[in-house]
Amino acid sequence: MSLILGLESSCDDSAAALVTSDRHILAQAVVGQTQAHQPYGGVVPEIAARAHVEILPDLITRVLDEARLSIRDVDAVAATAGPGLIGGVMVALLAGKGLALAAGKPLVAVNHLEGHALSPRLVDPDLGFPYLLLLVSGGHCQLLEVRGVGDYRRLATTIDDAAGEAFDKAAKLLGLGYPGGPAIEELAQSGDPTAVALPRPLVGSAEPHFSFAGLKSAVQRAVVSGDFRPEDIAASFQQAVVDCLVDRTAIALDKTDAPALVVAGGVAANGAIRTALADLAARRGRRFSVPPGWLCTDNAAMIAWAGAERFAAGLTDALDAPARARWPLDPAAEKVRGAGVKA
Ligand code: KG4
Ligand code: ZN
Repeated sequence: MSLILGLESSCDDSAAALVTSDRHILAQAVVGQTQAHQPYGGVVPEIAARAHVEILPDLITRVLDEARLSIRDVDAVAATAGPGLIGGVMVALLAGKGLALAAGKPLVAVNHLEGHALSPRLVDPDLGFPYLLLLVSGGHCQLLEVRGVGDYRRLATTIDDAAGEAFDKAAKLLGLGYPGGPAIEELAQSGDPTAVALPRPLVGSAEPHFSFAGLKSAVQRAVVSGDFRPEDIAASFQQAVVDCLVDRTAIALDKTDAPALVVAGGVAANGAIRTALADLAARRGRRFSVPPGWLCTDNAAMIAWAGAERFAAGLTDALDAPARARWPLDPAAEKVRGAGVKA
């Protein structure tokens, strides 16, 4: 059994957690920065980085105190090393390096996306490799065949916006706060998902890629028209995203023999999306696994867990490990036409 300290600061959540290789979360703490970024309707990288510097050390002390442990008791320090907002990424990575150096512990430089990708295995011990992963977060929308630790084959990605980005943009158009996903989900509950005719970009196409930019523009037109209630726009938008995710994931299931379908990342906290994908998996005779909501949005338990999986596989990193703004899980994946900056 090994004990891993995990650190996360790649976007707007500062987090620390202590997790064991036999799946016990001894302590964890997450502090978001919603208030600091709210006036801007999105995350301001400079503000996020400065906030991590102030918040993260206290979270490290807090989880160690809560578990009544010292840094000397851990077997390795796992820190997110990318991808993400580079100023933020550097905070947890350098904090992790400092602790590893001072306590003489190995460092595990964790890919944040691998944190999301392996997170279901922290709470679902029976979930073995391979599985098809729908990774839906603020910065990414991908379908990946997860073959093992550090072993990913990307089947699809978005050609424009990520799913979470679409939620955040739609929420902004509706005058809801940031982050948009939870706000849209709540408003959608009192709306009619058939009220507004919205497009389902790429639905029916042969490759399982995603596109959400056209959907955002259609939401904008619906808002500007003044013809619809906000709750109906929210519900119709959410239904359009659900339909896109289900159609694209169904195509990807045809391209893999993986016995399980997994959904992870912040957008996987959405109830309608969870239900629709569970139904799809059931129809296709695949096992379904989704982490609880708190493990879908950014946290350090998933970083500690990915660290535990990598540590068990002998994958530790030297103290000169780089901080990376971009870091694809499948570096061999071909660039998709129209895919701009998103890895
Ligand atoms: O994984 P995450 O916490 O951070 C990134 O790595 O990006 O994902 C954040 C994204 C945001 O775009 C947020 O709006 C979205 O996840 N999100 C949701 C929900 N909760 C968070 N989207 C839809 N429904 C939700 N309940
Ligand atoms: Zn994330």
